[in-house]
Amino acid sequence: MRIAIANDHGGYELKQKIIPYLREHENVEIIDYGCYSNDIVRYPIYAEKVCNAILSNKVDRGILICSTGIGMSIVANKYKGIRAALCDTPYQGMMTSKHNNSNVLCLGGRCIGDFMAFEIIHNWLNYQYEGGRHDISLNILKNLEIHNFN
Ligand code: RB5
Repeated sequence: MRIAIANDHGGYELKQKIIPYLREHENVEIIDYGCYSNDIVRYPIYAEKVCNAILSNKVDRGILICSTGIGMSIVANKYKGIRAALCDTPYQGMMTSKHNNSNVLCLGGRCIGDFMAFEIIHNWLNYQYEGGRHDISLNILKNLEIHNFN
């Protein structure tokens, strides 16, 4: 699986822990879209890079990290075809793969520790979408995108 990852200054430290974790423990290729330091940047710019990479099929899924994960999730969910899930627990990481088929995982770099992040990511990557009754909800979501978004 190909994963795009990006962050703002609030997510930089956690990303520096997550990339080695992904390389050592998960079977993924990683594209790092920045930012590459603690210097202050604007999170929508980095969310856009990851969403575009997914929507143009350069990658399969994305991880976005800001201080809280909230700003990144607000931006990512504006893109048609992006289902971004802000997760604070491994249970949410599992459930959002199984039920929401989320293609973006948002994390709060100043809200969770690195080991919690690893467990959330592990579940999100390794549980599969269950389809079935969850397709009903995702189809309603698709219709909302067609009628409510430009
Ligand atoms: C940056 O200070 C902060 O606003 C950002 O990282 C993010 O948490 C926004 O939701």
